[in-house]
Amino acid sequence: MNRIPLIAGNWKMHNNRRETLEFLEAFLPKAKGLEVEVVICPPFTDLWPAAEKLKDTAVKLGAQNLHWEEKGAFTGEVSPAMLIEIPCDYVIIGHSERRQYFAETDETVNKKVKTALKYGLTPIICVGETLEQREQVITMSWVLGQVEKALEGLTDAEVQKIVFAYEPIWAIGTGKTASSQDAQEVIGAIRKKIADLFSAGVSDKVRILYGGSVKPENIKELMAQPDIDGALVGGASLKPDGFYSIASFNQN
Ligand code: PGA
Repeated sequence: MNRIPLIAGNWKMHNNRRETLEFLEAFLPKAKGLEVEVVICPPFTDLWPAAEKLKDTAVKLGAQNLHWEEKGAFTGEVSPAMLIEIPCDYVIIGHSERRQYFAETDETVNKKVKTALKYGLTPIICVGETLEQREQVITMSWVLGQVEKALEGLTDAEVQKIVFAYEPIWAIGTGKTASSQDAQEVIGAIRKKIADLFSAGVSDKVRILYGGSVKPENIKELMAQPDIDGALVGGASLKPDGFYSIASFNQN
């Protein structure tokens, strides 16, 4: 197993252009010494100025969504061709907030994953259960169902490039983190599911992140789990110091 840890910041609808540039001015000098892969995912309008700043650095850029078509009459949408022009490296797909508020479904997630891969963007596919589903003890079947549908019709070579983020919805922005054992249990099951659907060789290469109230205080314990390869960080990625202390979890 040789997976490079990945720490991704999902800024959601936070940080305007000025705040983005201020963040990067403070974060980039420190980020030089980091030993993990780092991605920031600002709002669409900040992607161009962020890309300018990230040139010649190891920090990667990601979008928070994309449309599955290259162009067309889709008011308000952004296409994969537009994202690679910036250039973006990653794209978050199927975040629970998009599934909840913007009618994202397993089918649209699957279409977006295929499109992202076609354009050379690495998808970060989000899956996760609600509190109600956890209480009904259907977390595993729900999450593994989301994984299977997201990967429908993909080849081994494509699946190897994908990143998953397991984000229990009840842990997002609530301060409640899944215990590292709970997170490992689900993430281990996702890896096994990918092995069953494709092969152990493929599932060994797929990076699976945990997301949901990740902070400097809990990152080490999460990263100590065998199947957790990184984190998708929301609130705690908005401040350069906090994000840096998460991304440097293995250095202090
Ligand atoms: P949080 O968000 O870290 O603020 O809980 C994570 C996410 O939604 O990706």
